[in-house]
Amino acid sequence: MTDTLTALWAELEQIAFPSLTALFADSDRLARTVSTLDLADGAIRFDWSKTHLCAEAQAVLTRIAEHQNFADKRRQLFAGEPINTTEGRAAEHTAERGSGSPASVVEAEALHERTRALVEAIHDGLFGEVRSLIHIGIGGSALGPALAIDALTRDSARVAVHVVSNIDGCALEAAFRRCDPATTMIALASKTFTTTETLVNAASALDWLRAGGVDDVYGRVIALTADPDRAVAWGVDETRVLPFAQSVGGRYSLWSSIGFPIALALGYDGFAQMLDGGAVIDRHFLETPLADNAVVRAAFADLIYAQALRCQTRAVFAYDERLALLPSYLQQLEMESNGKRVTAQGAPLTRPSAPVTWGGVGTDAQHAVFQLLHQGTHLIPVDFIAVKVPGHDLDPAHHQILLSNCFAQGAALMAGQASDDGARAYPGNRPSATILIDDLTPAALGALIAFHEQRTFVSAVLLGINPFDQFGVELGKAIAKKIESGGGAGFDASTEALLALAGIG
Ligand code: F6P
Repeated sequence: MTDTLTALWAELEQIAFPSLTALFADSDRLARTVSTLDLADGAIRFDWSKTHLCAEAQAVLTRIAEHQNFADKRRQLFAGEPINTTEGRAAEHTAERGSGSPASVVEAEALHERTRALVEAIHDGLFGEVRSLIHIGIGGSALGPALAIDALTRDSARVAVHVVSNIDGCALEAAFRRCDPATTMIALASKTFTTTETLVNAASALDWLRAGGVDDVYGRVIALTADPDRAVAWGVDETRVLPFAQSVGGRYSLWSSIGFPIALALGYDGFAQMLDGGAVIDRHFLETPLADNAVVRAAFADLIYAQALRCQTRAVFAYDERLALLPSYLQQLEMESNGKRVTAQGAPLTRPSAPVTWGGVGTDAQHAVFQLLHQGTHLIPVDFIAVKVPGHDLDPAHHQILLSNCFAQGAALMAGQASDDGARAYPGNRPSATILIDDLTPAALGALIAFHEQRTFVSAVLLGINPFDQFGVELGKAIAKKIESGGGAGFDASTEALLALAGIG
């Protein structure tokens, strides 16, 4: 790290952050820290007022951004330049939602048309009666579809999608129990088409179809991949291979053909609305000055907590059952992107990298883990995510109580409460941000996800790391492969004993 950069981070660390209540003494606090972005069918309010983002920190972080050529890096991202330096390629997920280099946008649109055609063919009955899709993929090839389908199609799916990721056969068996082989198609989602879990699950799914009396099992398979040749070599007919660009990273891929199951469950137009919602964030991120930029503000607050106040985790609580899978989605997005120990140039990172992302749903989490948030010794910045329109038709009291609790938690964390009895005292000054969505439409979900992608990107740029590779996952995979191929000797005594006990290797 250069001396200037080291000095800038030191400046951030030395700020005497005012308390949250002191920050609220500024009558313009909300104007400075809250943004409302309009979508085609509603708005999203990003309220960062109850964080320690103050003018002084904003100024230092802006200088760090300038030092790290943030504006140019952001331009490179959208221009499709090779910003993923360690792998020598671009990161073109934004082109999937129309915000990229013209050539990449045109290519993405053409590939989306193939997705649309296949979805509509299935809906129109060209593959016979299709009631279920077993979507097999893992990591970025599963988490996005699982989140979107759970959020948007709970009781309205046009085709019931069961997302299976784990190699543990219990996961696949659970899907089999809910499907009839005669009316089920299989989607194999893998950017590389080499992932062990996905290929082993795929083979078992074909066995299940065969055992269920399906003659042409390969005729039921669709592949979603950036390596169409491998999918064809595996046995998928090329008319049912939906490719996407190599420059779209796995954890950023739900916008590409990996979103096929979303489109199948929701209808293609709904999927297209998700893309449009993502594009609204892209435009805001690209065009809004840093001080008013909701994405940049969120990332700046993240950096205050992780870098200056050394928080090791950040928590996300969705006060909406439909967003129950959001924390797992964000875990991969943030931890696989920014959990790095070297800079993009390979020099040691001398600062903490991404905090651990964790979370759950409200109000459940209130009755389980919030004790620590209010009175524990860790400082944990919290994001609350809530939706104004309920996702159910029950008594409106449910939703009023849900939202009251959500807002009460943010207020309580910030204000705290004095007491002579230490056990009953709440220190307060604990930060939270609130994202309030008008209605959980496809566009709103697309915007919510894109907001987090870009927020992760900003942190990476300021830290000088490459958020688009994930070499850290390779070593464990290689060792597992070695064990599977019988080359499992020569480990430490603990591993040897475990392997022997399990009869492996
Ligand atoms: O092992 C991590 C990872 O490479 C993720 O980055 C990726 O989303 C996941 O595995 C699945 O990879 P693929 O889509 O190539 O099967």
